[in-house]
Amino acid sequence: MAGEGLITPHGGNLIDRMTQAGSPGPYSGSEPAVVLTQRQQCDIEMIAIGAMSPLTGFVGQKDYDSICENMTLADGTVWPFPITCAVDEKTASGVKAGEKVALLDDDRRLLGTMTVAEKYPHNKTKQAETAFGTTETAHPGVKVLMEEGDVCLAGPIDVVCAKYDPDFADYRLTPAQTRAKFAELGWKTAVGFQTRNPIHRAHEYLTKCALEICDGLLIHPLIGQTQPGDIPADVRMNCYTTLIEKYYVAEKTMLSVLPAAMRYGGPREAILHAILRQNYGCSHFIVGRDHAGVGTYYGTYDAQSIFEKLPAGGLAITTLNFEHSSWCKPCEAMVSAKTCPHPPEDKIFLSGTKVREMLSRGERPPMEFSRPEIADILIASMK
Ligand code: ADX
Repeated sequence: MAGEGLITPHGGNLIDRMTQAGSPGPYSGSEPAVVLTQRQQCDIEMIAIGAMSPLTGFVGQKDYDSICENMTLADGTVWPFPITCAVDEKTASGVKAGEKVALLDDDRRLLGTMTVAEKYPHNKTKQAETAFGTTETAHPGVKVLMEEGDVCLAGPIDVVCAKYDPDFADYRLTPAQTRAKFAELGWKTAVGFQTRNPIHRAHEYLTKCALEICDGLLIHPLIGQTQPGDIPADVRMNCYTTLIEKYYVAEKTMLSVLPAAMRYGGPREAILHAILRQNYGCSHFIVGRDHAGVGTYYGTYDAQSIFEKLPAGGLAITTLNFEHSSWCKPCEAMVSAKTCPHPPEDKIFLSGTKVREMLSRGERPPMEFSRPEIADILIASMK
């Protein structure tokens, strides 16, 4: 296997559900077909390339219930979010267990097939309560969930084309490819950094602290479905490449994209993010303040403490927890409450709203908050 000697994939083996059987392109077959939602399209790519190992397809009801209730698959393997193919009643009624269904993108092109093992009711309220901790549709993850169909189709998938015209093809490495790259670079340990934002000084601080104790750093921005208002992935990629070129050590830093959908699920999503990075070969994973959070739904460090609730040995990847970090004027450095004795008034804290306002006026936030090169890219993108 690629990357021999690196951390074992979650569940033991790297799954590969890409197949040569079936030709990509417009769908003209006779099987029932399901046009996948944006999130489901992201999920089948993640499953097919092994990023969601040990999943081989969309989860069945036993796994679904166990995930919601215990954060594990039915066999006890840690898994925090049901990965479902929910469809409407009409579509579901045209599908029988044991049959194959074609999985299509928005342009009705064939992405792959699922051999349907079972159909079961999509218990959205239970899923929202357990996985997201809220049923409010103001929560963007819950909103997407509530708009999904009422029946889940479950079973293994075989993917002929993970994505037509994929963005960032040069940076879209599969878990097998990042593992091979780590091995080639001689990295025995690598720390993964999840982000859905441009890298500001606090993010830079976390990644560099983590790199001090690992052989390499994988900057691994999520570029699948996000919510309107989040900074578009192409703008962010421009920020990442610019920043890495100027402020990171090339031989110690790798940039690759995570084609996953954002669920905004806070603590449970932090576990999912860690599992995904383990599959990509990372030994360590950064969890900072309010990881994958949104609004005020989760406590600042809930995404760190949830890992303590997992069964012993449940996850092989090691999380590196970071406290809320910011620039301190008297220290003249990036600090957190763990490393700096000065009061909050001495820190440069800027809310997302305030930063957006400044950028849209063409104003750079202070360089202690964001590198000027990054501010300039963001200002230009708002014009
Ligand atoms: S996230 O949805 O991907 O978590 P974001 O891109 O803002 O959002 O954060 C990426 C990572 O950096 C997460 O682990 C988050 O907790 C962490 N983080 C962001 N800002 C800070 C900060 N000021 N201090 C500590 N950790 C932070």
